[in-house]
Amino acid sequence: MEKVKEILNRYGNSKDNLIQVMLELQNISGTNSLPHEWVVFVAEALDMPVSRVYSVITFYSMFGTEPRGKYLVEVCKSGPCHVSGAKNVLQLLEEKLGLKPGETTEDGVFTLIQSSCFGACDIAPAIKIGEKVYGNLTSEKLSEIVDSYREGQHNR
Ligand code: FES
Repeated sequence: MEKVKEILNRYGNSKDNLIQVMLELQNISGTNSLPHEWVVFVAEALDMPVSRVYSVITFYSMFGTEPRGKYLVEVCKSGPCHVSGAKNVLQLLEEKLGLKPGETTEDGVFTLIQSSCFGACDIAPAIKIGEKVYGNLTSEKLSEIVDSYREGQHNR
């Protein structure tokens, strides 16, 4: 728990920084998720009910409570993306990755999920991989994007 303590200290052991703390913890977890024992530790350290911490982290799709792939592939399902072909994008990704939403590739590289609008409506349909947003997607473009991650051209 030393690393968890260190990160909590860096953020002043403050409830106001819960999201930043959880993001850093998730980044060092090696599973792209937040282990239950870390959630409990943070809750106790910040004097918060564990259920409150869970309600925050489960609100945001960027957080996971189960181990996930190195890259989280988020397909936006909100209105503008929906009418611009998000369903096709999801289907293409399902085929390309061999996954259904919520699943992770066997090599632990990709987890596919559906998410709500992340502000890229002007380039709908859009996806997000890690922190990077890709829009105006076509089948070709999607293939190139996925391949570039498979070839290791990106950091997290
Ligand atoms: S509706 Fe898809 S990014 Fe906003």
